[in-house]
Amino acid sequence: MNLRKLMTVITVWMTVLTMNAQNVREVIRLDEGWKFAFGNAADPAKDFGCGTEYFNYLTKANSIHNEGPYSPKFDDSKWEEVRIPHDWVTTLSYEQKASHSHGYKTVGYKYPETSVGWYRKTVKIEELKSGSTEDLPCRYYLQFDGIFRNANIWFNGFWLGTEPSGYATQVYDVTEYVNYGGDNLICVRADATLEEGWFYEGAGIYRDAWLVKTGKVSVAPFGTFVYADMKAPYTTATMVVETEIHNSTLATQSCQVEQRLLDADGKEVGRMAAATMQLKGKQTSSCKQQMTVSHPHLWSTTDPYLYQVETTVKVDGKVTDVYTTTTGFREVVFDADKGFLLNGKSIELKGANMHQDHAGVGAAIPDALQAWRIQQLKKFGCNAYRASHNPMTPALLDICDREGILVIDENRLSGINTEHLRLLENMIKRDRNHPSVILWSDGNEEWGMENTIQGIRIAAAMREYTKLLDPTRHSTIANAGGGEMIKGLDVVGFNYILQNDVDNRKKNNPTWKIVGTEETTGCGTRGVYFDNPEFPGRMVSMNRSADKDGTYNRIERGWKFYADRPWAAGLFYWTGFDYRGEPNPLSFPAHDSEFGILDYCGFWKDEAWYLKSWWTDEPTLHIFPHWNLQGHEGEEVEVWAYSNCDEVELTVNGKKLGRQKMPKNGHLKWKAVYQPGKVVAVGYKNGKRILTETIETTKPADRIIVKSNRPSITADGRDVAIVTIELQDAKGRVVPDACQPLTFRIEGNGRIIGAGNGDPSYPGTDHPKDKDCKEFSIPAFNGYAQVIIQSEKSAGNILLQCTSTGLKSGTVNILSAQ
Ligand code: GAL
Repeated sequence: MNLRKLMTVITVWMTVLTMNAQNVREVIRLDEGWKFAFGNAADPAKDFGCGTEYFNYLTKANSIHNEGPYSPKFDDSKWEEVRIPHDWVTTLSYEQKASHSHGYKTVGYKYPETSVGWYRKTVKIEELKSGSTEDLPCRYYLQFDGIFRNANIWFNGFWLGTEPSGYATQVYDVTEYVNYGGDNLICVRADATLEEGWFYEGAGIYRDAWLVKTGKVSVAPFGTFVYADMKAPYTTATMVVETEIHNSTLATQSCQVEQRLLDADGKEVGRMAAATMQLKGKQTSSCKQQMTVSHPHLWSTTDPYLYQVETTVKVDGKVTDVYTTTTGFREVVFDADKGFLLNGKSIELKGANMHQDHAGVGAAIPDALQAWRIQQLKKFGCNAYRASHNPMTPALLDICDREGILVIDENRLSGINTEHLRLLENMIKRDRNHPSVILWSDGNEEWGMENTIQGIRIAAAMREYTKLLDPTRHSTIANAGGGEMIKGLDVVGFNYILQNDVDNRKKNNPTWKIVGTEETTGCGTRGVYFDNPEFPGRMVSMNRSADKDGTYNRIERGWKFYADRPWAAGLFYWTGFDYRGEPNPLSFPAHDSEFGILDYCGFWKDEAWYLKSWWTDEPTLHIFPHWNLQGHEGEEVEVWAYSNCDEVELTVNGKKLGRQKMPKNGHLKWKAVYQPGKVVAVGYKNGKRILTETIETTKPADRIIVKSNRPSITADGRDVAIVTIELQDAKGRVVPDACQPLTFRIEGNGRIIGAGNGDPSYPGTDHPKDKDCKEFSIPAFNGYAQVIIQSEKSAGNILLQCTSTGLKSGTVNILSAQ
């Protein structure tokens, strides 16, 4: 370690020690030790008496004497133990009469007995060491990053409040209710009866929960706003920090606010002049500080360099809070002629729309899986993420900052009343420090607004509110049908060029800044090339089935359009991964969408290769369908190639079918007659053979290959390994139509938290009921399956074995280390 690094480490440790010594901000993750039970949405008597007459929790501030789960006296010994994040819908069954948009899961208004969930957890809070029990020396905040939905929260029997939205972070000051030196009861009731979106939304405490302790004068929740003003050549930046400070005591306090800028190694690279503030009892007020930073290391998609601003609050020279804000220096410009520019360079937004759910875990996605999902998108060249259609999980924004992903963060419901603006403010104040966020979206496809004068006014008013909360960024609304509402937007978002005459609107409005907020992928079920009435929930990719005249390839239509128009910022495909719900144009027994470029587990569909070809510089060649087309012998089959080679030559079962020039942003196809055998494609660049791709008819599956995405994970009870199962024949070739049942068994310090196979109509459960599951079964689908393994808090080895009758079993070892 060199001297500079050593000094940095010493400084960081000294800061940590000082913090501990002064007992300032502590953040405790509330993931373990929760109890869960279903209540009832239709009958208060079956809902643990909640809402009945005198036992209604609203009659008195403290429900301590009531019988409900919010009372510390309540007995929850028969309740199930769960961990947060938790999505109770994952273990529910599918039914045809359930909600199509929510993936036919038995939740919602038709299922009152599975639509309300109760959670209880006890936390110990230390004895007061100093200060008075009436004017308390520190504060405790309870924070939930998202509960689906209509949450009511209690602390030691006191009702704290309610949050109707399933996507808002909620913060409650619980200081006055704390039982110092003893147990404290947190109780949550979530009611998922009402759908908030038109896609699978899960239910319960599906995002992180925290207990935050601060000093008596501290940075208010989400109380910093850090931004930097800079222009080319980016040699200096003016960094501004606006900080809201809260005095939680009853007396007037005078405090000092200091700001330090730390680089990615934690080394101080700048300090702002300290600000002094006088705050009356209970007052929150803000200060603004700034400094010049020379030669900042810029944040970009290829080098996502992060800094931290460390805010220190002092009262009488004593530190009462230390708060860090992650930030990055970058200039984001939407331009009417040049599209999107990052740090002065034009970048095409190659984006994906995403909902927050994944095979096996539903909406309760652990952070490591979130990060893995982003990395899978990056593999085919995706550089941008639209959080459709709700504010995203804060942990995911941190990941996008680190991964250099450009984000559109989206508000759920448009409107200008207190409730709408509260939620808009909640999102922007929470997320505006993230360098990854390039654009706010104030809404999506608001059909009732797009062509009305009210809509024009609402959109314009929301744009201004958004600017008040964040003057550094633009906002958009994703527009379904080319109405008048969009004329006042900062950036016009178009959902689908088929529905919007984008060229004409641009011609008539040359100053508009434009982005394609949605464009269809046309994808279907991974590995399915023929419709089969036995499996009505699976679908051939629309890009193949509707390619008759060569002009109706959906994924190509979107990219060709935006790639050709430099004035547009780029596009966001609908969608990156498959998601649960909206299995359009199919219906039950299909329950998952098939719009994904990747399937519900993240396995590649053919279209991912199309994008990799045109979105990356990596030489790429992919041919399909696979060559296990049993039952179609003698039939004509189109063989397609997605590639960025100049030319591709195809040979089928020894017969040369010709060498063709690859059209820009397009694909190639040859007509062949199917007989088992071998298809070979050779890719040429500048006349030179650079790639060969072979697909062969395989033998039946013979063995199971198990691969973990990482050899070791952290033994923190949260980290996960994403394990891929491949069914191979005796020659080691993946068998693309193998669907054998699989059983997973774990030995050691890990648990199975979910499994999947990418079949959009798999009728079984993909999530174990047991929170410490060691054995689980799911069939493979078209050669693959996935299992998600979570570490326990104790370190050790995790041995995963996967077996199936008649196949050689496979194992993988994952080290779980502290
Ligand atoms: C869009 C909508 C998306 C999704 C998609 C399905 O109109 O914005 O949320 O529903 O259609 O095709």
